[in-house]
Amino acid sequence: MAKKILITGSGGFVGKNLYKILKSDENFYVFGVDRASKSNVVDAVVDISDKQAMVEVLRGFNPDEIVHLAALSDVEKCEQEKELTDRQNIAPVKMLAEWANQNDKKIIFISSDYVFDGVKGDFDESACPNPLQYYGQTKLAGEKIVSALKNHIILRPTVIYGWDDNGMNFFMQLYRKQKEGREMRVPLDQISNPTYVMDFCRLLKKTLSAALNGTFLATGNESMSRYDFAVKICQFMGWNKDLIIPVETKLLGQVARRPLLNSTNSKAAQETFQFQFNSLENIFSDILARMQPNSRLLN
Ligand SMILES: NC(=O)c1ccc[n+]([C@@H]2O[C@H](COP(=O)([O-])OP(=O)(O)OC[C@H]3O[C@@H](n4cnc5c(N)ncnc54)[C@H](OP(=O)(O)O)[C@@H]3O)[C@@H](O)[C@H]2O)c1
Repeated sequence: MAKKILITGSGGFVGKNLYKILKSDENFYVFGVDRASKSNVVDAVVDISDKQAMVEVLRGFNPDEIVHLAALSDVEKCEQEKELTDRQNIAPVKMLAEWANQNDKKIIFISSDYVFDGVKGDFDESACPNPLQYYGQTKLAGEKIVSALKNHIILRPTVIYGWDDNGMNFFMQLYRKQKEGREMRVPLDQISNPTYVMDFCRLLKKTLSAALNGTFLATGNESMSRYDFAVKICQFMGWNKDLIIPVETKLLGQVARRPLLNSTNSKAAQETFQFQFNSLENIFSDILARMQPNSRLLN
């Protein structure tokens, strides 16, 4: 019998890709929730901070597993609007966990590498979280709630990127600047492991069939600065790397502190879920194939 999967934030970048993957697999029966109706990937328009409305959705669909993606992930806004962030990033996790606990269901919670402080780098699952900003603190609070459940998996991705027509992920920001011939200031001192959205969704799908609990890094295999990442994309795509302007994070005038040396090791997730992150070359080729022909900068 098909496994019933509820996705919160199914209209978002990760959500819509995961929704489409599961929808086309007869082993899954997927139901998407988002606060707005978005291109055939949202089955119920609900604000997840509306407890009553969410409980009705949960009772109605009665999922076996919940993939909880919906969150306020604008790091600057989280720092400036903490009460709102609590309502969006902590209260819904509590509500979902309460329901999962009462009904013996599993939650897959998407956290972030921002639970780390970016001091030593090369973080794995044994490293102690120490978030520098409110977004990371709320992700860590969510992890604590979910990790008390009998059935749970927590994934910590970072810089999720890929082709997304109307999206604002790092790749798309760079693409748009290139298209307009405009410069883009990119931090040269933020090191992390960018995560390809399709790899992340494949990993997420594997966690749905896994009979185990745990917290895992879920980041791509290669560590690099955001600047180096932008340059690699430009080199592969044949874009103008002179439009990439390296800047130090401290000069960006951001309110929320960013972890700098936040390289991570996702060996545990890859071994546990029998999964491989793709090489950058394969990923960039895949993105190129997904770009609309008239959106390409080349040919
Ligand atoms: N993208 C990354 O680089 C990255 C890195 C690490 C961790 N993560 C985590 O991964 C998860 C998915 O990320 P993503 O990039 O797919 O985010 P996203 O594109 O912002 O998608 C989240 C979706 O959830 C919706 N949503 C937010 N609050 C909601 C609410 N109260 N009720 C109903 N729907 C709500 C959003 O709607 P609106 O668009 O209207 O807000 C959006 O459609 C998030 O939890 C994020 O924190 C992301």
